[in-house]
Amino acid sequence: METEQPKQKSSPHVLIFPCPAQGHVNPMLKLAELIAIQNLHITFLNTKYIHNRLIQFNDDIQDLLECYPKLQFKTISDFHDDEEKHPGFGEKIGDVVVALTLYGKPLLRDVIVSEKISCLIVDGIFGDLAIDLAHEFGIQLITFRTVSACCLWAYLCVPKLIQCNELPIRGDEDMDRIIRNMPGMENLLRCRDLPSFKRLAKENEHIALDHVVFQNQQSLKANALILNTFEDLEAPILSQIRLHFPKLIIYTLGPLHHHLNTTKKTSSSSSSFFKADRTCMTWLESQPLKSVVYVNFGSITSMKGEEIIEIWHGLLNSKKQFLWVIRPNMVQEKGLLKELEEGTSKEQGLIVGWVPQEEVLSHKAIGAFLTHSGWNSTLESLVYGVPMICWPYFSDQQINSRFVSEVWKIGLDMKDVCDRKVLENMVNDVMVNRKEEFLKSAMEIAKLACKSVSCDGSSYNNFRDLIEYIRSTSP
Ligand code: UDX
Repeated sequence: METEQPKQKSSPHVLIFPCPAQGHVNPMLKLAELIAIQNLHITFLNTKYIHNRLIQFNDDIQDLLECYPKLQFKTISDFHDDEEKHPGFGEKIGDVVVALTLYGKPLLRDVIVSEKISCLIVDGIFGDLAIDLAHEFGIQLITFRTVSACCLWAYLCVPKLIQCNELPIRGDEDMDRIIRNMPGMENLLRCRDLPSFKRLAKENEHIALDHVVFQNQQSLKANALILNTFEDLEAPILSQIRLHFPKLIIYTLGPLHHHLNTTKKTSSSSSSFFKADRTCMTWLESQPLKSVVYVNFGSITSMKGEEIIEIWHGLLNSKKQFLWVIRPNMVQEKGLLKELEEGTSKEQGLIVGWVPQEEVLSHKAIGAFLTHSGWNSTLESLVYGVPMICWPYFSDQQINSRFVSEVWKIGLDMKDVCDRKVLENMVNDVMVNRKEEFLKSAMEIAKLACKSVSCDGSSYNNFRDLIEYIRSTSP
């Protein structure tokens, strides 16, 4: 009599698909490398436009392929084939996301079939796109939200806030009104601290509000959720999410850049969409310990000329040295950049177009970070114990900066104000008057971040569990 042989499990093959934006590709590529170190097959799926930029500006991409034979990059169209008219990855990124959401499913299906994918790790923004495909192929879907847990929780609370008449924000609203019905954040947030889409609702953009609510709920219909945070940082908020979504497995793996650095025992690879100007590192070498304010508003923020002028005067008047990153596509006013460069003495400031940010933040000369509070920048800053001055621009940044100033107490929040005197005072508070206080709390959080990714730390253990989950659920 023939005995039935146990079915052999095939080796897992994970597809990672980020939203084509800098703040999404960075952490998802770190995750890809961490998984590749575990010797699993990985396909990292980029739009053609983004992949071209990655290979153009980062030799590290080729090195990754040589280092991990089971890692490969694949590309798909983003339905904007004319390079000249491409919306890019800044303020018009929404056009690309909408096109991929509407038309991307067949392309994603082709990759799943051709690469025999057994597990999808998809940016939460594309959760809706991937759910049907995961069902169709009987494979696991894990969504990755690149925002903070506090931001995700704020999004998830929208229906309740509408029910309690706390949202939408009305046209004549006092933006300092306190939000009361957000479990785990009662009396912490003002209207102005809500992720900016809800503030958009002030202009009656209910569609935007509805869409964000839908998108977030869809992303939680996956089998599991990955967050780039760590338990000690956002414990009360994570408990709320777990309480309300008890069936969802949540893997907190962050800070991912540091997780990878600790695992590799070297600094991790770069995935910049711009060429980094390394002259800033030589300049930093010549600056005294913790003397420099590092200024960077991320990959998307666009600024008006008058805002740039206020920031500039605030920095000049603070009399502190500064390293300021002004992206090539950030200033619209012709001649303004030249005016700033010529009006800044080399002794006080250096203005460049893009920097290797992790390296800058880890440099001993950096004393504070004037930031837009993007979640990656926030995590990178807190790992190196650098106190922050926050000038949030949009999306999750408004709530991140509130947590920086009021929960973690590692900086000040300049939200909704762009005034030279306010900035000058804040720089002096963080760099001089309240320096010890901010440094102490920043160092404490930095220690917790390091602990989380070290052997037996929460993110370390969660990653081990994730790998086990991927292996055990592979068909
Ligand atoms: C935005 C959101 O604010 C963010 O919270 C969300 O999760 C993704 O979209 P972004 O404006 O790109 O992100 O900011 P941030 O999340 O801080 O990411 C920027 C990344 O680019 C960081 O990893 C940073 O290190 C890197 N960077 C930025 C550089 O390497 N060099 C630079 O000069 C500027």
